[in-house]
Amino acid sequence: MSKLPFFKTYINKSANNKVNSTLNSNFINEGFVVNEFEHKLRKFINLKYINTTNSGTSSLHLSLIAAGVSPGDDVILSPQTFIATGLAIKYCGANPVFCDIQIDTGNICPISIKKKISNRTKAIIAVHWSGYPCDMDEIQKVINKSKKKIYVIEDAAHAFGAEYKGKKIGKISDFTCFSFQSTKHLTCGDGGAIACLDKKHYEEIKKLKWFGIHREKDKPGFLGERIYDLKSLGYKYHMNNYSASLGIENIKIMKKVLKYHRKIGDLYFKHLENIDGISLMKYEKINLHSYWFFQLLADDREEFITKVRSLNIPCNVVNQRIDKYKIFKKISEKNINFFYKHHIGLPVNTSINESHILKIAKILKK
Ligand SMILES: Cc1ncc(COP(=O)(O)O)c(C=O)c1O
Repeated sequence: MSKLPFFKTYINKSANNKVNSTLNSNFINEGFVVNEFEHKLRKFINLKYINTTNSGTSSLHLSLIAAGVSPGDDVILSPQTFIATGLAIKYCGANPVFCDIQIDTGNICPISIKKKISNRTKAIIAVHWSGYPCDMDEIQKVINKSKKKIYVIEDAAHAFGAEYKGKKIGKISDFTCFSFQSTKHLTCGDGGAIACLDKKHYEEIKKLKWFGIHREKDKPGFLGERIYDLKSLGYKYHMNNYSASLGIENIKIMKKVLKYHRKIGDLYFKHLENIDGISLMKYEKINLHSYWFFQLLADDREEFITKVRSLNIPCNVVNQRIDKYKIFKKISEKNINFFYKHHIGLPVNTSINESHILKIAKILKK
């Protein structure tokens, strides 16, 4: 029996041909193929201003720079995320300020954000943990009450295709960052994207991601070199045609993949409810989860893991709170302290079906 994956890498069969034709084109750097992928992303999210990048991490870094985050500024975030979210803040020389989470979703808690806002606060990063959207309206209300200009950057690494109150993730905040790393719903091998609401931010990121040179506006002069001046730092964060070829073909299967992930999420809810020793999350029906994985809280996590793994079904925490790492400042807040000890993830992918979930339910009921 082949081992069930916790995460699956979704590659459309048609990707072989597309990648091959790019490899044979003598142009694998950023070019028409990247433009084509960006066009497909814009269509999928229904938003004009989307830049691709080479990762979710570089997308976060560029968004923070475009939001004007500089050394000494504070950026508020949830500790329940992957280290990349906190590192991107550190790359700017800014201070990651951790706040508490909502116990029912694992997402950042707007009430806790309110307590952490100070004169130094420049931005808030909202991580849609496991693919369920953060409470974006409540976050915006807290910002409005503070009467400060605070940017919202959504870390949607887990949440491609998710929706908040009928709006696609990507269309809500100043900046939304996606990851197309190999385990994410949509993969380019590695890659990322930033959705912006404002054209100015979009143009700035377009420049920043390629050394500070605007590929379309800074055209080569008579001598053959592009004409530009560099006044501040630029980065090598762009996507290439090779990765974009994968993205173009893989985005074609995303509706199907997301539908299946949602079906598995619903089945976990159906079969795991009312089992002693575990608590399921409380999601609002109006929001559309993309279920990168299925999370729950287990009274005795070690026992839970042992039982599920005895079925040859993988099970893990995915990531633990990142404020525990020495590079950051650890906080002690009620919900994250509890979550750290009890949260656990189950796999959601097209290798998982109802019979696996029924087996999990049966062994947990014993
Ligand atoms: C929440 C979160 N943010 C950011 C990232 C970074 O994405 P990438 O690996 O594409 O740089 C990840 C990666 O898994 C993640 O889980």
